[in-house]
Amino acid sequence: MAKIVIQKKIKDFNKVINIDSDKSLSIRSLLISSQSYGVCKIKNISKSGDILSTVRGLKKLGIKIKFINNICYVYGNGLNGYNYKKNISIDAGNSGTFARLILGLLVQTPYEIKIIGDKSLSKRDFFRITTPLQEFGVNFKKINNNGLPLKISGSDYLKPIVYYEKKGSAQCKSSVMLAALNTPGKTILMANKSRNHTELFFKYLKLPIKVIQKKNYDRIEIIGKYQFKAFNYIVPGDISSSAFFIVLTLLTKNSKLKIKNVNVNPSRTGFITIINKMGGKVKFVNKRNICGENVADIYVKSQKKLKSINCPVKLNSNAIDEFLIIFLLASKASGVSKFKKLEELDKKESPRLQLASKILRKMGVKVILGKNSIKIFGNPNLNINKKILIKDYRKDHRIFMTSVIASLCFGGKWVIEDMESYKSSFPSFLKIIRKIGYKFKNN
Ligand code: S3P
Repeated sequence: MAKIVIQKKIKDFNKVINIDSDKSLSIRSLLISSQSYGVCKIKNISKSGDILSTVRGLKKLGIKIKFINNICYVYGNGLNGYNYKKNISIDAGNSGTFARLILGLLVQTPYEIKIIGDKSLSKRDFFRITTPLQEFGVNFKKINNNGLPLKISGSDYLKPIVYYEKKGSAQCKSSVMLAALNTPGKTILMANKSRNHTELFFKYLKLPIKVIQKKNYDRIEIIGKYQFKAFNYIVPGDISSSAFFIVLTLLTKNSKLKIKNVNVNPSRTGFITIINKMGGKVKFVNKRNICGENVADIYVKSQKKLKSINCPVKLNSNAIDEFLIIFLLASKASGVSKFKKLEELDKKESPRLQLASKILRKMGVKVILGKNSIKIFGNPNLNINKKILIKDYRKDHRIFMTSVIASLCFGGKWVIEDMESYKSSFPSFLKIIRKIGYKFKNN
């Protein structure tokens, strides 16, 4: 089991970096292109473990996929055009997004398909997906309570549904939207606010979708069985991966960073709002629209004084993947930061709220953990002088990367096990740290 040992802080830096491509958009571009007619060209797709699982899964479903230089060619076979043998199983690895979204595209499969995943994914909740898909007429055999493995068999008698998605989960919303694409008639989905990449993708392809924005939810109407042609797509950089470097810069003295070409869809930038409320100054420049998504370059510089925050619950869904790294900022802010209604955080690759409180306590930060809330007592002089061991975190990539950033900003001797974990979302993570001037010993 490879581990990384880090025992010194990072020195000040002033750099320009590129970040790995967005995971949500990479997975969506593969899945949606697999349903088009013809050869799609996707530029700049992520090479992370989750995307490789998606590619392998689609190939098993009979989709030809080729990589030439920086372009991924996907040979779509039209709606419900998968072509596969009986009794196949698809291994989603660590990817909740792939496992949940692909179920939406399998609603009409003639033969039963088994979906499996790694240990962490197998423990996650699939009831949230099987519930709406059953309403379309899909059948499931659940093998492991509400997690994976499970078996899906589609139906030739699909009917459109009216459904209210109340968790603010983009994975649930998108799975229903992809099922709607394969179902004749009009599906109506009321979805609490969450990242809107699938909606923007449908609009980019001019599919029959209508989105009516209400105060607390979106009403989404989709007319299914609309065949569409192959398309070109360009995937921008990942804002969730950028978040680690934004926080690293904020917490390192006399440093500046420019991150080029990042997706800044407002439904993903909740953590930027949080950072700016805490006194950080993060700026988007050179804003443009690429394939229906907002893209910009991000400028950030170190911040001497950070304020605590009483984090508005309405930002939770737009910052859901960034809370771990935000908790590091809160540890260094003056005052007590409060975060509430974070039950979804414990449903990720690991129980992140629980693990975050453990790690913060190891760092010497006072924390009060509630059932779905956390209070963090910030210390502007936080400096660690002891050994910290991070293990048994279900190989959660974001726990690994947050721990590395904490070690670089606060010092101490950190030993972090399961070093490969970051590759599921952000394979260049350590390379970029080296690029901004840090030398790892032995790694
Ligand atoms: C994702 C949605 C989020 C997020 C995940 C990616 C997506 O999950 O945590 O990393 O691409 O739709 P939920 O929709 O379950 O909140």
